[in-house]
Amino acid sequence: MELEQPHPVRAGRSRRVLITGAGGQLGHALRQAFADDDVLALRRSEWDVTGPATDAVPREGLDLVLHAAAWTDVDGAEADPQGAAAVNVAGTAHVAALRAPLVTFSTDYVFDGRKRSPYVESDGPNPASAYGRTKLHGEAAAGHGAWVIRTSWLFGATGNNFLRTMLRLGAERAEVAVVDDQRGCPTFVGHLAAAVRDLVDEDLPTGLWHVAADGDCTWADFAEAIFLDAGVDCRVRRITTAEIERPAPRPAYSVLRSERAGAPRLPHWRDGLRACLAELRR
Ligand SMILES: NC(=O)c1ccc[n+]([C@@H]2O[C@H](COP(=O)([O-])OP(=O)(O)OC[C@H]3O[C@@H](n4cnc5c(N)ncnc54)[C@H](OP(=O)(O)O)[C@@H]3O)[C@@H](O)[C@H]2O)c1
Repeated sequence: MELEQPHPVRAGRSRRVLITGAGGQLGHALRQAFADDDVLALRRSEWDVTGPATDAVPREGLDLVLHAAAWTDVDGAEADPQGAAAVNVAGTAHVAALRAPLVTFSTDYVFDGRKRSPYVESDGPNPASAYGRTKLHGEAAAGHGAWVIRTSWLFGATGNNFLRTMLRLGAERAEVAVVDDQRGCPTFVGHLAAAVRDLVDEDLPTGLWHVAADGDCTWADFAEAIFLDAGVDCRVRRITTAEIERPAPRPAYSVLRSERAGAPRLPHWRDGLRACLAELRR
């Protein structure tokens, strides 16, 4: 049986906060959102979470762990599900073994996408991909005392993400083909990281939370908005998922909303897009 994690997390300055996956896009945003705290941000080279904690990890005195390390190659997970599980399941168990208050991150891809109204926390998961299955098992590996944040379609000013891919392709081509039959909530990592800080500061109950941008759209809508707001002269040709062959199935519909009292409400994805583009211009 899982032990309850100690609560509440000490509020205010100088909390000792460990961030895993600090080199990723969410890790980067969490570092900024928790800049007032005493942050130890570890990259994979300092702690590969497929193994137990290294000497870089303090054994005691941690007030909070933000676990942003993950295998996020959705298609790659189909070819190497065990590799993905080593990071997303065993890795999360290694982080939970620190026995510090823990925030871990999961995904809309735990759902099969057959619903046509927003997925809430009490909806039953049914992942269609190896990635989704490892993330679902990872939720369990975090233990009952963790905050498990399910989010979706992350983008930020760093790392590999759809927005940065579109900006690159839009600079090279007159037209890009983008799928128009998958609907979700593109979520700016800066907005998500700020919501995580609020959730912890307000000491909201642990367990599952759906935290994604307000509004929803298809990838093609998102691409058009990126080109419009960034002033890139590139057309979007709307295609179906069936027209492109990808190893991993994606949910056709994965809009996330929370049914829990006091749930953090994120800005609209268009505001996230504007905030991200502003960060890229800085
Ligand atoms: N990206 C999305 O659209 C999305 C959507 C919903 C949920 N999420 C979840 O949100 C969280 C953050 O995702 P993200 O978008 O920030 O991903 P990301 O940019 O791919 O960052 C993940 C980080 O984890 C690191 N990592 C991978 N394997 C590791 C290992 N064995 N040990 C330690 N670090 C390792 C990666 O290091 P390297 O750079 O060295 O590979 C990378 O820095 C993840 O839990 C993800 O599943 C993401």
